[in-house]
Amino acid sequence: MRIHETIDSLRAARSGDGRVALVPTMGNLHDGHIALMTQARGSADQVIATIFVNRLQFRPGEDFEKYPRTFAADCERLEAAGVDDLFAPREAEMYPQPQAYQIEPPPEQAGILDGEFRPGHFRGVATVVMKLFQIAQPDVALFGKKDYQQLMVIRNMAREFNLPIEIVGGETVRAADGLALSSRNGYLSAAERAEAPHLFKVLTKVIEAVRAGSRDFAALEQGAVRELQASGWMTDYVALRKKLDLQLPSAHDSGLVVLAAARLGSTRLIDNLEV
Ligand code: PAF
Repeated sequence: MRIHETIDSLRAARSGDGRVALVPTMGNLHDGHIALMTQARGSADQVIATIFVNRLQFRPGEDFEKYPRTFAADCERLEAAGVDDLFAPREAEMYPQPQAYQIEPPPEQAGILDGEFRPGHFRGVATVVMKLFQIAQPDVALFGKKDYQQLMVIRNMAREFNLPIEIVGGETVRAADGLALSSRNGYLSAAERAEAPHLFKVLTKVIEAVRAGSRDFAALEQGAVRELQASGWMTDYVALRKKLDLQLPSAHDSGLVVLAAARLGSTRLIDNLEV
């Protein structure tokens, strides 16, 4: 695997013909990331992974500084997954001057759910992803469905800017007890880790109720929040939404997803399940 710290070096390595897949990450790779690499490998001639902890998508007081950086171990995993090229720029390469031009996703998509609790987050994500797209010029780019709203914002950005890039979502990978894999799981204490799968269990109950015909979405959401709070969680939201645009569903809508964000101690976890 070739490792590139500069844009010029990555561009020189980008194959002229053949299908190029891009898998952007912030590193601290887990099996969910590796599943995306494997998926990419299966559909492309050249797989480019990126590792860049993007300051723009963190708010002051969030975990930018302490975000786990595990470069050597990440490289080993990427190499084993058959990745051809890794783009791992320093901040000065990505942002040689303050990024004055940014992508502002519409508030009805990026100001709801996670965007309500992390204002500006999706601006930072959309901006760095647009830069990575311009740098790597992939034919296909893969993102995990665990960050469901992020995937929607990127899909819509690619469509509205007519980017010739297929956006592909990868299924969420879970631990045996149901906890969605996330780099932030490493922040959990042993007691919090034992409690963490409760989020998945609560979301499972919600989708089972919807599948069984329940249409009182507000009651289902409130029940889930109460159950989490009773177990010590601080809940930002549990929300049943339409898969396509994450807007509020009406009772006859199908194609739903339940999304949640909640904190255990100081660790904020997100998860979702499609109905
Ligand atoms: O999902 C992530 O790891 C990040 O938000 C991404 C897409 C790599 C942009 O920094």
